[in-house]
Amino acid sequence: MGHKALCFGFSCVLLAYCVYSPVPENIEEPWKVRLMDALIKMTSLVATLFENIGLMKYEEVFSTLATVHLTKPISDENITVIDTNFRDIPVRLYLPKRKSERQRPAIFFIHGGAFAFGSCKMSAYDDLNRWAANKLDAVVVGIDHRLAPQYQFPAALEDCVFVIKFFLRDEVLAEFGVDPTRVGIMGESSGGALTAIVSQLLQNDPEFKDRIKAQVLIYPGLQSIDTYLPSHREYEHGPILSREMTIKLASLYVSEDTALFQAILKNEHMPEGSGHLFKLVNWSDFLPEKYKKNHVYTEPILGKLSASYPALVDSRLSPLIVSDAQLQNLPLTYILTCEHDLIRDDGLIYVTRLRNAGVQVSHDHVEGGIHGALSFTRAPVSLHLGLRIRDKYISWLEENL
Ligand SMILES: *[C@@H]1O[C@H](CO)[C@@H](O)[C@H](O)[C@H]1NC(C)=O
Ligand SMILES: *[C@@H]1O[C@H](CO)[C@@H](O)[C@H](O)[C@H]1NC(C)=O
Repeated sequence: MGHKALCFGFSCVLLAYCVYSPVPENIEEPWKVRLMDALIKMTSLVATLFENIGLMKYEEVFSTLATVHLTKPISDENITVIDTNFRDIPVRLYLPKRKSERQRPAIFFIHGGAFAFGSCKMSAYDDLNRWAANKLDAVVVGIDHRLAPQYQFPAALEDCVFVIKFFLRDEVLAEFGVDPTRVGIMGESSGGALTAIVSQLLQNDPEFKDRIKAQVLIYPGLQSIDTYLPSHREYEHGPILSREMTIKLASLYVSEDTALFQAILKNEHMPEGSGHLFKLVNWSDFLPEKYKKNHVYTEPILGKLSASYPALVDSRLSPLIVSDAQLQNLPLTYILTCEHDLIRDDGLIYVTRLRNAGVQVSHDHVEGGIHGALSFTRAPVSLHLGLRIRDKYISWLEENL
């Protein structure tokens, strides 16, 4: 009886969310988006409740739900799928079965999840990587980097760097029949941040310079300097990403201290002496006019946090804060941004900054698009948008990798 009442209660709240939480007008399949958005808001609500009564930590609710979508490595008629480790880092390999006359390209895949949950083995990503391997006749390497808060900055990055460097050794490339001149990295959301950072680090490492041919960033989050950009203001309550949930999860990568989370929410987390970084993420300079609307630029407030977090001024957390000189030699870049996305402006600013530095950038902006669509390609909520985004970046890779 208790269970039934509880389920009924949850269903009512879910229904109320679906009916009352508005979604922007130009969103396609609005009811599916409403349902997805309501499920995420419910998850956040339940997670807050569980954390308050000491049952489970906030992020554990998200990571537990994510494990429901994990898949086994199942090969099909076209692709051999293997789970293995590079040193102690789990990777999932997608190896095309068909005979090939020439060496194959390779793509590293870095999943999203705010650094705190998720896995490349989740069903939607598994579909995606299988599809990419087949369509591009490429070896795809999904990376399961460590997660926060158990492993904090820069653990996730170190894992990605290690896996990529490990794979780029001549004997490993030869073992998988990979063409060393056709290697790309792709990531979505927080994985887009990791992709951008790895590309910067490798390009500025003499041993790995020019080893990455292309980077693909799908609705990436690229900075935590200023959390009050126009997209943060307009999409504070979602859809999909709400400002509070995103900051709560992503801040765990730096620290579990709630003072940090609260300071980031108020956009007053940056330390004294970091003001020179603002010009590198100044939306008033870098956003196309169309997205500035009537928003008024205000500088983040400095020096309010008593504890010091060096990560906050580190470009290995915020790849947007490197100088133009460090951007100059980056590989061919594809960036996809979605209109209705809390972190949309990070991607838009990076497009401008990269182009200013002379990097070749292809940019697709999806009007009516929402954050996370690549993960919503499986029942119960499968969006056409997810498949459209997949086809966009795959066809870019077909031409450019
Ligand atoms: C195998 O590849 C062919 C040709 O691309 C495709 O039509 C078929 O659906 C693929 N099979 C699977 C299981 O994905
Ligand atoms: C940001 O850009 C605006 C408009 O160009 C400018 O007035 C302001 O001084 C800039 N602020 C910083 C910190 O770069």
